[in-house]
Amino acid sequence: MRFFRGFGLLTTTFISALTSVAPGARAAGKPVYVDITQPVYKNADQPIDARVDDLLARMTLDEKIALVHGDSKFSTAAIPRLGIPQRWLSDGPHGVREQVSHDSWDAAGHTDDFATWMPVLLNLAATWDPDLAHGYGQVIGEEARKRGKQIMLGPSVNIQRTPLCGRNFEYMGEDPFLTSRLAVQYIRGEQSQGVSSCVKHFAANNQETERNTISVEMDERTLREIYLPAFKAAVQEGDVWSVMGAYNQFRGQHCCENEYLLNGILKGEWGFHGLVVSDWNGTHDTREAAMNGLDLEMGTNHRTYENYFLAKPFEELIRKGEIPMSVLDDKVRRNLRVMFATHMFDDPSKWENGGALNTKEHQAEAKKIAEEGMVLLKNDGDFLPLQAGKIRSVAVIGENAVRKFGHSGGSAAIKALYEVTALEGMVQRAGSDVDINYSVGYARKGTSDEMIARAVKSAEQSDVAIVFAGLSHDRFHDEEGTDRKDLRLPYRQDELIERVVKANPRTAIVLIDGGAVEMDPWVDQVRGIVQAWYPGMEGGNAIAGVLFGDVNPSGKLPFTFPRRLADSPAHALGAYPGKNGVEHYSEGLLVGYRWFDTKKIEPLFPFGYGISYTTFGYANLKLVAGSGPGDPVVTVKCDVTNTGKRDGREVVQVYVRQGHPSLPRPDKELKGFAKISLKAGEKGTVSIPLDRGAFAFYDPDRKGWVAEKDQFEILVGSSSRDIRLDGQWKLAQTTFEK
Ligand code: BGC
Repeated sequence: MRFFRGFGLLTTTFISALTSVAPGARAAGKPVYVDITQPVYKNADQPIDARVDDLLARMTLDEKIALVHGDSKFSTAAIPRLGIPQRWLSDGPHGVREQVSHDSWDAAGHTDDFATWMPVLLNLAATWDPDLAHGYGQVIGEEARKRGKQIMLGPSVNIQRTPLCGRNFEYMGEDPFLTSRLAVQYIRGEQSQGVSSCVKHFAANNQETERNTISVEMDERTLREIYLPAFKAAVQEGDVWSVMGAYNQFRGQHCCENEYLLNGILKGEWGFHGLVVSDWNGTHDTREAAMNGLDLEMGTNHRTYENYFLAKPFEELIRKGEIPMSVLDDKVRRNLRVMFATHMFDDPSKWENGGALNTKEHQAEAKKIAEEGMVLLKNDGDFLPLQAGKIRSVAVIGENAVRKFGHSGGSAAIKALYEVTALEGMVQRAGSDVDINYSVGYARKGTSDEMIARAVKSAEQSDVAIVFAGLSHDRFHDEEGTDRKDLRLPYRQDELIERVVKANPRTAIVLIDGGAVEMDPWVDQVRGIVQAWYPGMEGGNAIAGVLFGDVNPSGKLPFTFPRRLADSPAHALGAYPGKNGVEHYSEGLLVGYRWFDTKKIEPLFPFGYGISYTTFGYANLKLVAGSGPGDPVVTVKCDVTNTGKRDGREVVQVYVRQGHPSLPRPDKELKGFAKISLKAGEKGTVSIPLDRGAFAFYDPDRKGWVAEKDQFEILVGSSSRDIRLDGQWKLAQTTFEK
């Protein structure tokens, strides 16, 4: 069964005699005798669905009910009579969260819950590297295994619709294709460790303002083309075992109880066999939750777990015959499937993955992803990298150079084993040859004139100045539960930067934050800008590596930086944050660069943008037609040459533009990409396949995907606004797929 791909060894059917040689073992020349007198569900050699059926048949109504709701903040009850262990869920997308108390959000005060803090998902997205996403998921899977967690609440794949959303830092940007490619690999990496990913938040959860109540209205095509693809890919390509419903409403019904989203699309159209868990306190009604596809209720703010909507009240409706037992059985089946997939009943000798926590390898992976995701936005006159041999002093300025970010921001917070700050990274890297002169410059507790003056003086007296600016997980910044109020830098940072640059024109900015900020007052004055995100526990080392040139930056923006908030679609149209509890996504398909490109609005930095310490030349575009069934429609090939003096990596992006679509389409859409490593002077070739889906759009009348007979432009570039090669491709006939 597709759902359990990867667990073939454990699902070999075997019933022939009281004891016999297990089939796989015979081939290996090592007989293993299996006792078939044990219940089928305890026999790891049985197919999972047989085990599920067997166990379900043994369960009482009470026991079934126990499996579909929480018995603490993050667990479900054990059922000792049947040997069903307690099951543990945990946040989250960036590592395994600190243990919280049984019944409250307070920390449990454990000492064994320090973990690897990975760079935030937006940082991962900026790597444009699916292999790194796989490694990311695997690290978290291994740590979850070690910490005894079966379901990890991530990845978060909601689309960045407004630059103000407080959770943009834990999503993967504005493009459904990029998000999908990374999510699939994250899930495969994590689930390879026998831990269930839980892709979230399904669906249309794109702002924190009124997040528990807002009802999102959008046309069907926008839903299918922008907001659902990452979830669909997670289910159909990533084989994800769990999905979390969102807090908001979709077309007037809460997402955790949404008939259309859960039963109609997820389980119906996409054939999802795993479990749907509520967001914490996202369940509102027993009947709706029961009938509309929720399988596990967690986090409801009731004082007792037996009063959860899917506990006693659900049991009563079943006893009265108002809800059929088959509805509960389906939920229990889905829960049990994930429990078997995560080896909760298996003899450890058959599944020996005990996991690993806080290893050097995990820390190295965190560092690599941080490095690969840093985006060089500006580098006038090759100001960066800093030449350790040529400069003698650096003024390091800014509170963000000394703040730690891992343990805040909401449910994605991690109790990191350690966190290297930017200042620590700089001091460590600079060694004894370069003086690092630190001054805070601005602070969340209030920025004084004196603070600014001291920083200006330090800049004046140093060879170069680096201002570590940005946001934090403070309220109304990058924080779950609130949105940002605007795109301005807080705490008088603009003023500070302007004055520092005046004092020392040899100034660069490092932005530590989770989204776009307005740079108008200083963008033209500073010599360099590095977008560093919240880069995980090794972030300070990664930043220093980029600034001193040990690492050649190769990240690309996974979203558009607008010049001003009013340029962004949801704001230009006055759609955000909705009116009277309803938000119409009136920009439709035109999210992010789709809007900026179609409306010809100049962004500050475009989607897909990011420069390097070297340069790349593009040549020899070839469009190679597929020759057989299963082949891509066309493979885009081109040569890329590293034309500079340093080794580097480039993300080659392929956008598709349809000539004469029968329904309006965005100016262009990302449909492929590849990241290539090239030594200085080296030439390489990238091959990027485009399948039928790369040409198709969703036709709401026919309820499916149509790729029309038409002429298409294939645009190959280094960003969405830096197209280097342009080819033509003709589809000879119109095709349609559900
Ligand atoms: C968040 C989820 C998270 C859950 C459990 C909710 O507030 O929206 O993303 O997984 O809490 O902490």
